[in-house]
Amino acid sequence: MVRGARCAPGAGTDVNATTPEGSASAARIPRHLAIVMDGNGRWAEQRHRPRSFGHRAGQKAVREAVEFCLRQRIEALTLFAFSSENWRRPQDEVGALMELFLKALDKETDELHGHGVRVRFVGDLTAFAEPLRQRMQAAMAKTAGNTALALNVCVNYGGRWDIAQAARRAAEAVARGELTADAIDERTLAPYLSLADLPPPDLFIRTGGEHRISNFLLWQIAYAELYFTDTLWPDVDQACLQRALDDYAGRQRRYGRTGAQVAQAS
Ligand code: FPP
Repeated sequence: MVRGARCAPGAGTDVNATTPEGSASAARIPRHLAIVMDGNGRWAEQRHRPRSFGHRAGQKAVREAVEFCLRQRIEALTLFAFSSENWRRPQDEVGALMELFLKALDKETDELHGHGVRVRFVGDLTAFAEPLRQRMQAAMAKTAGNTALALNVCVNYGGRWDIAQAARRAAEAVARGELTADAIDERTLAPYLSLADLPPPDLFIRTGGEHRISNFLLWQIAYAELYFTDTLWPDVDQACLQRALDDYAGRQRRYGRTGAQVAQAS
């Protein structure tokens, strides 16, 4: 795929004709999709515009992704919107992103609610300014009962932070006498991690051409299928996402077993 090019739908990727019931990959729709939305800055630079222009364009692609998941009846969509490392960016870019999140919350919450989307902000929210934090809490409270799609927006999030906060909360449970230290294992630690109430991501997508995890959902993606595309995030549309799903549908997930064992079991 040409870097920066809009994803052209290929044969069999007519998103309007592809439904969970109707597509060849009906049985292989991921329950949970996780996306690193990379490439906003380069998209803007290619147009000789400030990076914030790319982030604003990225917001449209977020809408496309939400619509796509609703249409495909994917249960959960988790987006990496702002990493714990993104504070290191130039101050004006960080400021523009905060402004964008604030405006997006004001503009999009009612519509998401209308579509039955449950919105959650995941990460260390204490770092955000009070008005933004209040809007995040209000959006979460308003949409808490929705079930059409769980939309998780990771902000000031890092996978290592997540594992550390889970370990801290488990240690607190030990201190309260609710857990013993020798009982701590993968099964007992898992409930303390973010998104513990959801199935783990089946498919991890990173746009923008880099082949990195960048400290996103380290624990939760242990068995996710990874998909990388050169398409810059603002150029991502539903056809592009459908390509990722089609690719996923052709994968064999083995979870440590052999291919022959998996083939025999299915
Ligand atoms: C990475 O691209 C993108 C971000 C750090 C911000 C993501 C934010 C949005 C898509 C805005 C809308 C989001 C919501 C949830 C309202 P980059 O800036 O690292 O791009 P580059 O690699 O080309 O520099």
